[in-house]
Amino acid sequence: MRGIVFTGEDAEVTDDLEVRDPGSNEVLVRMVAAGICHSDLSVISGTIPFPTPVVLGHEGAGVVEAVGSAVRSLVPGEHVVISTLANCGVCRACATGHPTWCWQSLGNVSTPFTYRGQPAHNFAAASVFAERIVVNEIQAVPIPVDVPLTSACLIACGVLTGVSAVLNRARVRPGDTAAVFGVGGVGLNVVQGLRLAAASRIVAVDTVAAKEPLARQFGATDFVLADEDGSGVAAAIRDLVPPDRELVSGALAPAGGVTWAFDCVGHPAVLRSALDSLDWGGTAVAIGIPPRGTEVSIDMNALATVDRGVLGCRYGSARPHHDIPMLVDLYRSGALLLDELVSVARPLKDFREIIGEMHAGRVARGVLTFE
Ligand SMILES: NC(=O)c1ccc[n+]([C@@H]2O[C@H](COP(=O)([O-])OP(=O)(O)OC[C@H]3O[C@@H](n4cnc5c(N)ncnc54)[C@H](O)[C@@H]3O)[C@@H](O)[C@H]2O)c1
Ligand SMILES: [Zn+2]
Ligand SMILES: [Zn+2]
Repeated sequence: MRGIVFTGEDAEVTDDLEVRDPGSNEVLVRMVAAGICHSDLSVISGTIPFPTPVVLGHEGAGVVEAVGSAVRSLVPGEHVVISTLANCGVCRACATGHPTWCWQSLGNVSTPFTYRGQPAHNFAAASVFAERIVVNEIQAVPIPVDVPLTSACLIACGVLTGVSAVLNRARVRPGDTAAVFGVGGVGLNVVQGLRLAAASRIVAVDTVAAKEPLARQFGATDFVLADEDGSGVAAAIRDLVPPDRELVSGALAPAGGVTWAFDCVGHPAVLRSALDSLDWGGTAVAIGIPPRGTEVSIDMNALATVDRGVLGCRYGSARPHHDIPMLVDLYRSGALLLDELVSVARPLKDFREIIGEMHAGRVARGVLTFE
């Protein structure tokens, strides 16, 4: 079957891939559409180190083709969005609605595929850049058949990561102010999550000027064009969102700026700009994934004296079986933009061309199709 494999040298579109049969608690899914998230590119670039060969892709949707003997929640023919969380469902984290904290949900790399006859790894417990995949029952979240799978696939990472970071992790309240650094597939969904949460100011920040109309379409009220090193961005955000009254003299930390700042890039200069753009009481949320070992320096007084903070956020701190149906409902009501995220949808063989367009800043999301 067809798929995209990273060999350690390069990403190859291949015909020479096989997947094993599903085990008793697993399902076989025929993929229909898959979005390209930056994390796939980070495997190719080495930012996310991974054993090879590995079948890429972790943002996908498809149709259940077969189910294992113990599977009770799914039948063949159902349309599903693939969750990357192969969480156990029974530990304390799972029982309290925090599957992203479940120990089984991270690092569970296995080799369900063969590539040129040799074992090949799965990525993010998913590997949706393959015609057929085997995942745990808990990872296949059913959705109504009238939702186009070319749009629904984006829920599996970019939408869930972005919207749920706002709703689950930050819990933004109506009237709060926010800045979003990096308005790609994830950042645009943070922007629309903020719109859904009724944030009063949503400042989008990107190094690519062409992202401004997209960001505004998803709900941004303002746009700041940034340099790679982020110089001047925090000051620009403070100008846009000034303090509501004059600062008393002698105060340690500048006031003004936003209540929430989301790093959707994964670069130390960006997280630092995010922290520097916070108002008193504000919190930065780290979503972007830099190379391992990356550190950021923080003026501790800027945190401790005025209640500022920083949070990490994996996969929108999502509860897939709650959040994915909710996002589908929001899409069907017209409140959540999904079709608008799909800038290009092309067959697997066009993988490189889509990546080129991503690097040029021309796409919100590029989608691969299997038909
Ligand atoms: N925490 C998680 O669970 C999670 C989930 C998905 C993706 N990610 C990570 O989130 C990040 C974004 O992923 P994506 O798919 O949205 O990427 P993307 O390539 O679609 O978008 C990145 C955006 O950031 C912009 N950008 C690049 N450098 C910038 C800078 N210095 N300042 C401002 N903007 C800049 C780009 O122009 C682009 O618009 C990646 O690091 C990815 O690995 C994390
Ligand atoms: Zn992703
Ligand atoms: Zn668990």
